[in-house]
Amino acid sequence: ATLRRRGALVVEPAVGRLTGVDTGKGRFPDPVELFEVVRRVLARGDLARDLTGRHVVVSAGGTREPLDPVRFLGNRSSGKQGYALARSAAARGARVTLVSANAALPAPAGVDVLPVGTAVQLREAVLKASADADAVVMAAAVADFRPQTYAAGKIKKKDGQEPAPIALVRNPDILAEIAGERPRPGQVVVGFAAETDDVLANGRAKLERKGCDLLVVNEVGERKTFGSEENEAVVLGADGSETPVPYGPKEALADIVWDLVAERLPKNS
Ligand code: CTP
Repeated sequence: ATLRRRGALVVEPAVGRLTGVDTGKGRFPDPVELFEVVRRVLARGDLARDLTGRHVVVSAGGTREPLDPVRFLGNRSSGKQGYALARSAAARGARVTLVSANAALPAPAGVDVLPVGTAVQLREAVLKASADADAVVMAAAVADFRPQTYAAGKIKKKDGQEPAPIALVRNPDILAEIAGERPRPGQVVVGFAAETDDVLANGRAKLERKGCDLLVVNEVGERKTFGSEENEAVVLGADGSETPVPYGPKEALADIVWDLVAERLPKNS
């Protein structure tokens, strides 16, 4: 508390296996990730602490909707953009909860990582963490549909028989739900959208449909977005603003998102 009062950025211990058979909070964070925090704090200078005292929730990765014990419907999201957002917020002083769906990435230093699998699990974790959050950023690629039934045993092929079609049901729209409910007054809610055509018009319509404050619109294409280190986007604001983000590292986009969030946070809360 004293160090925080003096303006130091404190990185909380990581959660995991401890010295005995016990697990919990108390591990030294991944040194590479710790180095990332230091690098970002130094790069950002005084701006680095503008999220101090704030709690932010970020979802990352892609959900997997199981068909049977060995198969699932999934998507190509790597989680890199969501992890970049979590790292950036932590370096700017925020307490960060990262709800991570199937991302094979190291835990960012000082960030609480909650692993989830399906859209329903992601919804539960995000809603719970959002209760006292100043901002919620939904960077995860959430499956819009899940298989209607889950086969407890592995689905087997049968000689001479065509496969049965897979019936799907809708998953809850987590972003729309949080944007509609705003569990904490003044909470800033951010969504992501991947579009292939009419990027801006589709983005604007989606922003309104979801009811969020900011929508990061990516144009999906080769090299861009899924699995890559770089990204290019336009951030649309419910206030009519349009912030173009040139092609560059996902970390740069993350910082612009937090700049726009910080501008919209109520003061002194
Ligand atoms: N999202 C969500 N819950 C879902 C689906 C998506 O919270 N069930 C969130 C994502 O995390 C992302 C945004 O909503 O922030 C993306 O919106 P979505 O409607 O999924 O976009 P698309 O899949 O691109 O929609 P469409 O297929 O209608 O273009």
